[in-house]
Amino acid sequence: MATLFFEPSTRTRLSFELAASRLGARVLRFDPETSSTSKGESLRDTVLTLTAMGSDVLVVRHHLADAPQLAARWSGVPVVNGGAGRREHPTQTLIDALTLRQRFGGLDGLRMLIVGDVANSRVARGHLTALPALGVEITLVGPPSLLPGSNPWGVRMSSRLDEELGDVDVVYLLRIQRERGAVSGYSGDRAYFSAYGIGPERESMMKPSAVVMHPGPINRGVEITGATADGERSLILQQVANGVPVRMAVLESAVGGRK
Ligand code: NCD
Repeated sequence: MATLFFEPSTRTRLSFELAASRLGARVLRFDPETSSTSKGESLRDTVLTLTAMGSDVLVVRHHLADAPQLAARWSGVPVVNGGAGRREHPTQTLIDALTLRQRFGGLDGLRMLIVGDVANSRVARGHLTALPALGVEITLVGPPSLLPGSNPWGVRMSSRLDEELGDVDVVYLLRIQRERGAVSGYSGDRAYFSAYGIGPERESMMKPSAVVMHPGPINRGVEITGATADGERSLILQQVANGVPVRMAVLESAVGGRK
């Protein structure tokens, strides 16, 4: 399994690598910073090179949403999407579906808020594609500048977090993705937190059974307090832990049985 991550990653890449080694696969880690990408090598030539070395499966993360499909076409081997631009992050969606099922016993009928920088989030778009099909009702919440410009999913969108909190089972927080040009419209982290951050005060407005989730990396004090991230409602580390078996399953279904 070769990992081609053209954007930074902690959880996704490491859990793919751990998943591969648990399945007995060997890992070829490609790092654009120290590789020939820095000498001008194209994505296509990088994919062809790693395929020529005998990779049976590629895991690709790239700022271009089409990169995984292109890599699959060029390489002819299965490609797993490790995060495609702003479009989707399918293994994160599977992880979160599993995490919700473990907590609630099923997904049908759950109500979820996705809060924060939805406009720039591939995680949110992946969830919007998959989770409603499993019965989850999603509402998007954030400042107007961080909500998507169009709503092909037909979900509710709101900029008033406090009015939504009391009614939901899941509060799914997102980081402000400044590297994608996100501008919250708030001057400073404290002002953003007071409008959209989750801490003990807003937790007290939530149902006792409601949970807090986040794909990571979290920014404590911006979208979530340390107390909430480390508290009883938080499923954040369970999401991380589920990354390994979920990615094992994805790799097994992509290349299991191959010699
Ligand atoms: C996210 C990503 O890169 O899409 N993190 C992740 O993979 N768990 C979200 C983010 O960077 O905010």
